[in-house]
Amino acid sequence: MGLRLDIVAPTDDAIARAADLIRTGALVALPTETVYGLGGDATNDRAVAGIFQAKGRPQFNPLIAHVPDAAAAAQHVVWTDVAEVLAQRFWPGPLTLVLSRRADCAVSLLCSAGLDTLAVRSPSHPVAQALLRAVGRPVAAPSANRSGMVSPTQAAHVVQSLGAGVALVLDGGRCPVGVESTVIDLTAAQPTLLRPGGATREAIEAVIGPLARAPAVGTPGALHAPGQLESHYAPALPVRLDALSVADDEALLAFGPDVPGGAALTLNLSPAGDMGEAAANLFAMLRTLDRPDLRGIAVAPIPDHGLGLAINDRLRRAAAPRP
Ligand code: TXA
Ligand code: MG
Repeated sequence: MGLRLDIVAPTDDAIARAADLIRTGALVALPTETVYGLGGDATNDRAVAGIFQAKGRPQFNPLIAHVPDAAAAAQHVVWTDVAEVLAQRFWPGPLTLVLSRRADCAVSLLCSAGLDTLAVRSPSHPVAQALLRAVGRPVAAPSANRSGMVSPTQAAHVVQSLGAGVALVLDGGRCPVGVESTVIDLTAAQPTLLRPGGATREAIEAVIGPLARAPAVGTPGALHAPGQLESHYAPALPVRLDALSVADDEALLAFGPDVPGGAALTLNLSPAGDMGEAAANLFAMLRTLDRPDLRGIAVAPIPDHGLGLAINDRLRRAAAPRP
């Protein structure tokens, strides 16, 4: 089924073709520096509805509108001083800002899932940048995987997860950051971290001061952080965290130089203990370890700072009880 997908190298011609497809309402998978996105014209209701359908994504979970730069974002959201400071420092790059929709916002209301806010991001990947400039409209793009599954960091992953409904996959190689963008809500009284990601909390707080934490899942107000769905990023196998030892029918996702022996299969996120390398390897390694002949995936402890915050967030969701 996925084999019908057209995977192409991101030549100028291919990017122009992808832009034409998006402008006519089709969906295109594109590389970003974080993960592959499933892109469609954010101003086209049918295209945005098609994204929800292709992913099997709940309609209450809003999408990010991707733009080439801050000027393009400010055409659709109420731009603020804090947004400007963050964009100056982190854009283009793995940071998503949730802001109020402008009254004349051209982005489909479906993209906001009924909220009066819109998430905007300017990705730094050169293929994404070229595509956005060629489309000339904001592009709605969630991660290009079935909802709840492991995010794609290579073109082949997109083909494994999504079949019909995607016109074209632009192959930009491996995504260098490997975890999704950090999502910050700037409409609250205090800037609030909705999802840890590729821009570290420490780096953001160094620019704008302390971030509030998103309300925990299930508490009143948690509806404001619709992305905080508990089970997510889940391989088929159960995931066991903070493993210090491992059984012979388990796969082991190790981190750092000290690796417990005895696993059926071991991959190391970063033998040197480098967080950037670990983030870039995370999703691809989870996919490789997800073998039906094994009983589960054991994951070594990973420090909870810097990119470790995003890595541990994804791993906790991968280990959460499945719906
Ligand atoms: O790195 C990324 O952000 C990737 C690449 C493709 O850009 N995209 C991505 O999209 O991860 P997605 O749809 O998988 O995750 C978007 C997150 C979700 O947690 C969603 O709930 C949140 O952003 N979000 C989007 N719009 C929002 C809004 N208006 N208010 C609050 N959260 C929002
Ligand atoms: Mg996603």
